[in-house]
Amino acid sequence: MRYQGGKGRLAGWIWATIDEHRGDRTTFVEPFLGGCNLVTAGHDRFDAYCLSDSWGPVVALWSSAQACWVPPHVTRDMYYGIKSAPDEHEARLVGFAAHGCSFGGIRWGGYAGATSSRDHVSEAIRAFLAKAERLRSLRDVRIVESGYASVDVDEDSVVYCDPPYAGLRGYGSSSWDQPSFVRWCESASRSGALVVVSGYGVPAGWTELASRRRTSTLRSSDLGGTQRVERLSTPGLHG
Ligand SMILES: C[S@@+](CC[C@H](N)C(=O)[O-])C[C@H]1O[C@@H](n2cnc3c(N)ncnc32)[C@H](O)[C@@H]1O
Repeated sequence: MRYQGGKGRLAGWIWATIDEHRGDRTTFVEPFLGGCNLVTAGHDRFDAYCLSDSWGPVVALWSSAQACWVPPHVTRDMYYGIKSAPDEHEARLVGFAAHGCSFGGIRWGGYAGATSSRDHVSEAIRAFLAKAERLRSLRDVRIVESGYASVDVDEDSVVYCDPPYAGLRGYGSSSWDQPSFVRWCESASRSGALVVVSGYGVPAGWTELASRRRTSTLRSSDLGGTQRVERLSTPGLHG
């Protein structure tokens, strides 16, 4: 299932970077869960996973994955019906339709149905079920609806953040407050957590852990063309 800004193709690289620096920390914290692309790639590395996102429907979707929910085949009429009255539908269905059935996985980015060569909705159902199975195979997974600033971390935590990028449409990023986010990461890092952040830049005073050139499907006048360098950075390395 595609998700705008999803890190599925970069998951191996991100895990390798985390593995190199995690030390003996046993809890994985992901406050920007989105399409659940990282924890469903690779093996079970941690004793506990605390996953969250501020958008309720996506949290409901992955919580339903834990409960073996099978999404219906969302037709064009269903898609636009759900989009125009989300409160009248189950949150998990809203989450699935909004991303899984949209072009490029962009939240309500337009119905991606079937063409002569592909049936995007069937592909999204299959991809969701595969991830759901993977999620159920992990030890001790907790999924909650929460803004990142309310997430608790300590010295036993590896915190991986893939925040929305300012300037991109979708997931409410127009109100994104980057300075507050940077301060929260620095505070989490001072508590002893390993904080690893995905982005196209590195905040002042932070350490770049790894970088990789990538052709992105995301478009924004602020971010230049579609060839970009993905970077993993941290406010501090210790322990
Ligand atoms: C780039 S996406 C994450 C994609 C994810 N890493 C993946 O691979 O599928 C960013 C996510 O951050 C969520 N988000 C936006 N603002 C947030 C906030 N203040 N706190 C927590 N999550 C937030 C959005 O709902 C979106 O799902």
